[in-house]
Amino acid sequence: MDTSTFSFTALYTGETWVANGLSMPELRTPAGDLMYKLAAPAEWAGKAIFGTNLRHMLVARHALIDRLLASLIQEMPGLQILEIACGLSARGCRFTRQYPDLRYVEADLPAMAALKVQALARVPGLSSRHAVVPIDILAADGPNAIASVLANAFDAERPIAVVTEGLMNYFTLDTATDVWCRLANALRRFPAAAYLTETYPRPKTRLLRAAAMAGAAGLRLISRSDAGIHFRTADEGADHLQRCGFDVAEVAWPPDDRTIAVLTGRVAR
Ligand SMILES: C[S@@+](CC[C@H](N)C(=O)[O-])C[C@H]1O[C@@H](n2cnc3c(N)ncnc32)[C@H](O)[C@@H]1O
Repeated sequence: MDTSTFSFTALYTGETWVANGLSMPELRTPAGDLMYKLAAPAEWAGKAIFGTNLRHMLVARHALIDRLLASLIQEMPGLQILEIACGLSARGCRFTRQYPDLRYVEADLPAMAALKVQALARVPGLSSRHAVVPIDILAADGPNAIASVLANAFDAERPIAVVTEGLMNYFTLDTATDVWCRLANALRRFPAAAYLTETYPRPKTRLLRAAAMAGAAGLRLISRSDAGIHFRTADEGADHLQRCGFDVAEVAWPPDDRTIAVLTGRVAR
């Protein structure tokens, strides 16, 4: 399945990170800047009508994943991080500055990984422990498969955290389930592993549900994907990760947002 049709969405999120102090100007793109300006009226209307909007949710999601990763770094000495579907996220730069010994690998489809390498070349003072590699999360085998990237880019004797941010909901639940099962299995090679992914609980009010369905339909159309909501509640998402092979799974919420939650699944060797 060719999923490069939704890579462009990373340009919008990339500009959102810059505009909200979560990234640096070197990672901006002209297309992201244009998309961000064009979407401003719709974002403004969303905030006025629903009290929240896409930008607010994106920032809440990114900040929550930052917080969860920072606490995993404290909890698991020697932790290594793989950020899958990194897009133009600056987390690798921010975290390797904050934790100079951290091994941080970003991964995305080959074209997006190449764009990220170009963008990072403009950032001064990159850590030698920070790398970008190609991956295709849907590949069951071959050099870009999850298991190959984990085997080739990481030390199997140290703990690892894997993040997928803004990716899994583009897939049907069946496709996502297949990825999660393969990932849980591959992570068992490490002494301890955590996997972070966001989930979008079904909104409680009819108005918000209609807005979420319309948003998902629009996203399916422009990204030519299967974008949609997988679970009614975040707890259902956590249970599902356990059925995919994670030993335990927890739910975390941003302080002021109930449109998104982050699941952490854990496995140990
Ligand atoms: C919405 S963007 C999210 C980017 C980034 N995580 C963020 O939050 O800004 C989706 C990302 O998934 C990547 N992607 C799409 N299909 C993929 C696949 N099969 N394997 C890995 N990454 C993929 C795209 O290239 C894109 O960078």
